[in-house]
Amino acid sequence: MRAIIFGAGNHGRVVLDILRAQGRNVIGWLDENRALWETQVAGLTVLGGLDWLRQHKSDGLGVIAGIGNTQPRVAVSKAVESLGVPLINAIHPSAVVMPTATLGCGICICAGAIIGTSAQIGDYALVNTGSSIDHDSVLEEGAWVSPGVVTAACVRIGRGAYVSTGAVLVAGVSIGDGAVVGAGTVVTRHVPAGMRMLGAAPHKLLKIDESFDWKRLISGDPPE
Ligand SMILES: CC(C)(COP(=O)(O)OP(=O)(O)OC[C@H]1O[C@@H](n2cnc3c(N)ncnc32)[C@H](O)[C@@H]1OP(=O)(O)O)[C@@H](O)C(=O)NCCC(=O)NCCS
Repeated sequence: MRAIIFGAGNHGRVVLDILRAQGRNVIGWLDENRALWETQVAGLTVLGGLDWLRQHKSDGLGVIAGIGNTQPRVAVSKAVESLGVPLINAIHPSAVVMPTATLGCGICICAGAIIGTSAQIGDYALVNTGSSIDHDSVLEEGAWVSPGVVTAACVRIGRGAYVSTGAVLVAGVSIGDGAVVGAGTVVTRHVPAGMRMLGAAPHKLLKIDESFDWKRLISGDPPE
């Protein structure tokens, strides 16, 4: 199937490299920015926008939204689907995806990422370079994880939520729909929908006594 990337910007060029690494035949770009039409980006022509795709929807093409920002990525992906054009996945060959993981459509998994056992990656989600999504974690529709993020087990990242570079999410935490986690943030508590959590909590040096619950290291049961 010939592939087209919708979004000829920076993330689009990342997606181009991934699709080529997968051995796909990428024939061009689409972009809603008319100023880009008929121009060349990374050696491929920007063919047009959604109207172009409407006219070529029966040509056996597969499309992926190569857009970092969540709202346009989800909107473009849904618009492509509504035309009956299949969304393809960009999964770099160096990514490790466990066989029990489930993947949605129109997703991007960048180089060196790890998708653990029984993890679920929802439609239109984006897992950036070298991020690790550990077992039984869930990225809901359109969720975006930046480079170098580590989730422990059983983490939920809600619809359209965003996790910045190098954040660490301890076992069992939940990032609410549309929430934002800042770069380098250590998330030890749930982040409610529509909220931002920025930065690491101050260190605490506490004695390990009989009240310390070792089970929390495994299962995760973070406080609200
Ligand atoms: C998420 C992010 C954009 C937050 O921006 P924001 O919500 O607009 O935050 P603001 O700039 O208004 O800062 C609010 C306060 O939080 C602090 N803050 C912001 N981000 C922080 C972070 N990651 N860690 C610690 N403190 C942070 C600011 O210093 C500021 O503190 P002050 O009020 O004491 O001055 C930013 O933290 C971030 O992570 N950027 C990196 C994004 C990234 O990784 N992109 C990669 C794409 S591939």
